[in-house]
Amino acid sequence: MINPLRGMKDLTFDDSQRFVHIVTTAIKVAKRYGYGYIETPILEETALFKRSVGESSDIVGKEMYQFEDKGGNDVCMRPEGTAGVVRAFVHAKLDRQPLKQKFYYYGPMFRYERPQKGRLREFHQFGCESFGEGSVYEDFTIITMISQIFKELGIGFDLQINSLGCPECMPPYKQNLVNFLTNIKEELCEDCNRRIGTNPIRVLDCKNKTCQSLLTNSPKLINNLCEACDSDFKKLTTLLDQAELSYTIDTNLVRGLDYYSKTAFEFVSDEIGAQSAIAGGGRYDKLVEFLDGKPTPAVGFAIGIERIMELVQMPKVQREGIYLGAMLEEAVEALFPVATLKRLEQKVTVEYNSKGFKSHMKGADKVHAKYCVLIGEDELKDGTIWVKDLETKKESTIPRGEF
Ligand code: HAM
Repeated sequence: MINPLRGMKDLTFDDSQRFVHIVTTAIKVAKRYGYGYIETPILEETALFKRSVGESSDIVGKEMYQFEDKGGNDVCMRPEGTAGVVRAFVHAKLDRQPLKQKFYYYGPMFRYERPQKGRLREFHQFGCESFGEGSVYEDFTIITMISQIFKELGIGFDLQINSLGCPECMPPYKQNLVNFLTNIKEELCEDCNRRIGTNPIRVLDCKNKTCQSLLTNSPKLINNLCEACDSDFKKLTTLLDQAELSYTIDTNLVRGLDYYSKTAFEFVSDEIGAQSAIAGGGRYDKLVEFLDGKPTPAVGFAIGIERIMELVQMPKVQREGIYLGAMLEEAVEALFPVATLKRLEQKVTVEYNSKGFKSHMKGADKVHAKYCVLIGEDELKDGTIWVKDLETKKESTIPRGEF
């Protein structure tokens, strides 16, 4: 027997139903907020992720499914969706249009991480990217949209927010932080020591307990924002307060991808263990330019579908459609014209084996049909059909042509 690869999963039965329910709910909400579907390739040039997610990030540095294809190209299975959507946006020259563009997508992402509960090597995201709107109102709207998706899925969450500043306030803060970190270098872990030189902001995110306690007195970007970033962040918190959407400001929230500026956020759940982030995102105003497009502000997020799968409350299964059965062998073929006609408008389940009455009723129940429709000896002879509404329990025998 051939098993799936480590960290990869088949989605069957209950899981696949949950998956479809999550995606359809998220799409429904995203459409109400003006998002349209975008599909981009799973395989991209490795350079795309190096330039966007960042060479010093763990995702690019350690976790990419990267290989040379048969044509000698350096390619990579996408570890996330934003980079591909931005590449497609620039490729289609949408950056030259005055219109604001909003896209949603869902599909598999690949990261070669150490698998554990909630952490897979192939996982699925539902994401949204909004281009052309630089106002913090859009950050607020996106956060509202994610809350609405979780509300409609019956999922509780905590929202954490931070500001990562902009090219004006981030560089002086970074220097400030490097000075602070260099002084406590000896006590920091090996990873943090490496990051001081490559990506000092990520040190704030270190999970090591000793590092965390050493960082309590570190300079905070939130206290060193330029006027514009400070005013946007304050506006965001005011809007969230007014909407009664509770949040915590996490000054160590830096996100694992390098393209963010200004607003960064994560939705977390305390019900799913150590891998508690169920969605993450933020503003990335420089990325379109970085990938050779015209300067275009942008903001987006992605939800980890597998992480919320066990939190989702599935709606009660509604009875729908028709179960069709024959009570004798000769009547089986009389079911097909009825099925073909009815399938033009609703779900039809046909039982190919003739069976007794009780057995058919059980079959109709099993597929949650609204109607059990049978042809027996009398119905075959008379050209009629027996119909039972399984909700109202009403029964009738009617000419087959009128059903
Ligand atoms: P991210 O935080 O790397 O952001 O991933 C988003 C979500 O994907 C996480 O919150 C988590 O739920 C899920 N996730 C990440 N890695 C795994 C894994 N190994 N196994 C299972 N689930 C996982 C992004 O990917 C950004 N592209 C989000 C974004 C869109 N920012 C702006 N636009």
